[in-house]
Amino acid sequence: MTTPSVAGHAPALRACWHPVAASHDLEADAPLAVDLLGEALVLWRDRAGTAHAFLDLCIHRGTALSLGTVEGDEIVCPYHGWRYRSDGSCTRIPQLADATRVPAKARATSFNCSERYGFIWVALEEPRWALPEVPELEDDTWATVLCGPYTWACDASRQVENFTDFGHFPFVHPGLLGDPERPVVPSHTVETDDHVLRYDIVRPEAPANDDFPVFGNEVVVAPERRSRYELHLPYTIVLRLGWGGRAGMVYFFACRPEGPDRTTGFLAIGRNYNLEQPDSVLQEFEDVIFGQDRLVVESQRPERVPFDLADELHLTFDAVAVAYRRAMRATGLAP
Ligand code: FES
Ligand SMILES: [Fe+2]
Repeated sequence: MTTPSVAGHAPALRACWHPVAASHDLEADAPLAVDLLGEALVLWRDRAGTAHAFLDLCIHRGTALSLGTVEGDEIVCPYHGWRYRSDGSCTRIPQLADATRVPAKARATSFNCSERYGFIWVALEEPRWALPEVPELEDDTWATVLCGPYTWACDASRQVENFTDFGHFPFVHPGLLGDPERPVVPSHTVETDDHVLRYDIVRPEAPANDDFPVFGNEVVVAPERRSRYELHLPYTIVLRLGWGGRAGMVYFFACRPEGPDRTTGFLAIGRNYNLEQPDSVLQEFEDVIFGQDRLVVESQRPERVPFDLADELHLTFDAVAVAYRRAMRATGLAP
């Protein structure tokens, strides 16, 4: 089912997995409303704890199912108590003399839903690609911290490009992610393999920061960060960091594209060092970083990345954005 509000989006985005919520935000007996690609969805869990995603709309009178309740393996509409089970079929219409004589048309619209890496994922149509493999986030010897989520007034494409943009670190995050004395972006090349972009870079790290001791660099004077990126189209990034020793960190960032001017970024960070550090240290650090980014990204016009390379001005150090824009078009994910 497609609502008019989704018309501005490439239909191909519907056939991709998108994160819609952190797993811990969907409680056992409370439905949760979320927006995805202009569609209002309701998430809920059955008795086994399996998450389900429906259009947030009861076929009877268009009421939001998210205002209802979850009872056993069914979600119950708040208006007239119709009950739907996980495949979307209606099991009971209490107003009928025989409540089980349900017409075939009485159904909720259900979508592909899965749960991994601490997030719930939805694809509005059969997904074209599997989720990225990030074994570190499922490895008990690593610690994982969930940060955010970060809701910004922009399209998901702007939030993703910001995450991959090297040139801004010394300017937007001086002393935290970049060293203003070393603004030159090292050369790097991007390999595009269908819907995955891969690139590596060794770039200047900010000197160790006493307020946020989050990174694993041993050199503190002019440290260098080795970053290996995988950008999985359309909006998921796996970033592996190293500093030449055994300390490793993985950033897993994925956006929920809500509409043309609203997106929410979900972030899971894994590390194999400082395992005892409280989650709040990384969470507060990322809240600062994402707050700094938000100001500039929400000011960008248009709100959505212009995918035609003739728009905006690309220099050699913008190789990732160029490759991203090309690949989004080549895969039909952007106009
Ligand atoms: S509107 Fe949902 S049961 Fe009537
Ligand atoms: Fe940034």
